[in-house]
Amino acid sequence: MTTSPSSSPSDSSSANRPRILTGDTPTSTGLHLGHYVGSLENRLKLQEQYDSYFLIANVHAFTTLADKPAEIRANTIGIVKDWLAVGLDPTKSTFVLQSEVPAIAELTFFFAMLIPFNKVMRNPTLKTEIETKGLGDSYPFGFPMYAVGQCADILAFRPELVPVGEDQAAHIEMCRDVALKFNQMYCGVGNRIPADEHAKAGGVFPVPKAKIGRIARLAGLDGVNKMSKSLGNAIFLYDDAKTVQKKLNKITTGRQSPTEPGDGNNILMQYVDAFIGNTNPERAAELRRRYTAGDNIGDGHIKAELGESINALIEPMRQRRARLETPEGEAEVIRVIRDGVKKANIVAEETLAMAKEKLGVGFGRRTLGF
Ligand code: TRP
Repeated sequence: MTTSPSSSPSDSSSANRPRILTGDTPTSTGLHLGHYVGSLENRLKLQEQYDSYFLIANVHAFTTLADKPAEIRANTIGIVKDWLAVGLDPTKSTFVLQSEVPAIAELTFFFAMLIPFNKVMRNPTLKTEIETKGLGDSYPFGFPMYAVGQCADILAFRPELVPVGEDQAAHIEMCRDVALKFNQMYCGVGNRIPADEHAKAGGVFPVPKAKIGRIARLAGLDGVNKMSKSLGNAIFLYDDAKTVQKKLNKITTGRQSPTEPGDGNNILMQYVDAFIGNTNPERAAELRRRYTAGDNIGDGHIKAELGESINALIEPMRQRRARLETPEGEAEVIRVIRDGVKKANIVAEETLAMAKEKLGVGFGRRTLGF
């Protein structure tokens, strides 16, 4: 484990652990196993090792839901409950509510000067979203703007790593471009200095890297499409034990008997890797060996073992989530948000002051009142 290349001199809260930042946009509710293996599982591990910032991009939610503020608010609270329920721990990490961190909005404006407009419009992640969400050409100005905003979400915390899914790769690339350009234009970092050495060479921003999770894409119960709420092929983290087993039992692989060699890439084997291999790799390997050899093991048996391990995984989450669905739970969520906002602003304000100094707009430091 390496330590942070001392990007921040007065780094008190982090005990010098390297920083990461990642986040979710509160545009929907309903976490499922795809979210779990795609990002949450990863975050649980990362919060133990890194100084971790988890951002709720509630301002970005307005890019597509500007007319539904109540929905955004409910989803925001829902995400915090989800995070707490899966085990993200606000005493180990920092929960960041985007709308309460002014430095993010301020950096966004300056960063917008460092990216050619046409480059933003060619961003493949934005293009895909415009297609899949059917936004046509009527999306607001703020929609492409969010990609610039995401650079500020990240850089405000000067992280080294950004754990995300494949779909976010273009955004992280753009963020790296912004960091490089800022450091070169305003901090005197030479063109030939490699990205990794920017912070050491006097750049305000370490140039962050994307970190893709163990399983980038989990197939849904249909075995073909990515698991997704809208496709109706998901197992939700708050499905009860019976529902989980029922859903698994409906999976079809086309395999006829326990002695027929099974396809090692089929949906059941993918789930074995994801949900048995995570805690018991030997058992997963054994199941795979017998399944692919047709060594007297039926689909039904695999489904039963999967049901057991998936339920063991999500049972504590179901319980914690239920506890949060009470007035006390609601109050806890608000407390967690307020605490996170305080912690987040310490770092973000520090970054903003450093950036403003370099931009020549530093005229004495301000303090935010809480
Ligand atoms: N755009 C991300 C998504 O939709 C959410 C997000 C916002 C984010 N700001 C971020 C992710 C910063 C990583 C870092 O999933």
